[in-house]
Amino acid sequence: MAPLSGSLAEQLSNPHGVAGRLAGAAMRLVNREPNALALEALDVQATDDVLELGFGPGEGVRALARLSPGGTIYGVDQSAVMLAQATARNRAAMLGGRVRLALARFDETGLPDRSVDRILAVNVAYFWSDGRRVLAELDRVLRPGGRISLYVTDASAMSRWKFTASGHHRVFGASQLMAFLADGPFEESEISVVKATLRLGIPGLIALIDKPRDGAVSRPGRVAGVHGLRPRSGLGKLRLSGDQLPFD
Ligand SMILES: C[S@@+](CC[C@H](N)C(=O)[O-])C[C@H]1O[C@@H](n2cnc3c(N)ncnc32)[C@H](O)[C@@H]1O
Repeated sequence: MAPLSGSLAEQLSNPHGVAGRLAGAAMRLVNREPNALALEALDVQATDDVLELGFGPGEGVRALARLSPGGTIYGVDQSAVMLAQATARNRAAMLGGRVRLALARFDETGLPDRSVDRILAVNVAYFWSDGRRVLAELDRVLRPGGRISLYVTDASAMSRWKFTASGHHRVFGASQLMAFLADGPFEESEISVVKATLRLGIPGLIALIDKPRDGAVSRPGRVAGVHGLRPRSGLGKLRLSGDQLPFD
């Protein structure tokens, strides 16, 4: 593996220094489409409280604040460089208290139990070194009836990209992602994994986790193969449901 690839992988997992600032600028561009897909699948309502896991340069947070003008948008990321970029991008909403960003880790968000209706997680599951701990944390903060939308690029593309060879990224095909997400507090019947093809033919996976309302029976899960999906084209059809802490 070339050293440059390892350093890129490290910057994607924990952006720091000048290279981290450049990585943040690159993420704004290359992660636009995955974010649009995952956001559409998240089905945010106007008063939802939402957590973004690994907000990076802050574009997802900005979109969430527009989608939920009556809710609070929380974000956690371990990188001070990303916190600075995301803060610059969301300054007015942060001053108004509608957006609250914190330096925190995926498995210890600092949010109270049952405090959010939606969770967005784009290009971050690669870095869940202990998936069960992260999933337990997400289950703890997500309200019953809430939804998680997660995007990863499919293993068939990731394994061709040199930077993944450095060992910083865990890679997933659809059934591996399903098994990974079901190995924790969420039942397989609450998880759906949908294949999506991005521009340039990049294969992506969107996983939705729908936490049942208290006392409700969860829906049957599936791994669905859907190709050629584009934001604002077909994802709506795939919606399956009817429906101190760092922040102090
Ligand atoms: C590839 S970037 C994705 C950023 C953003 N979601 C996007 O789509 O542009 C991954 C982000 O996760 C953050 N991250 C990685 N591991 C983390 C951890 N254990 N806890 C908190 N943040 C983490 C990194 O700092 C980085 O900003």
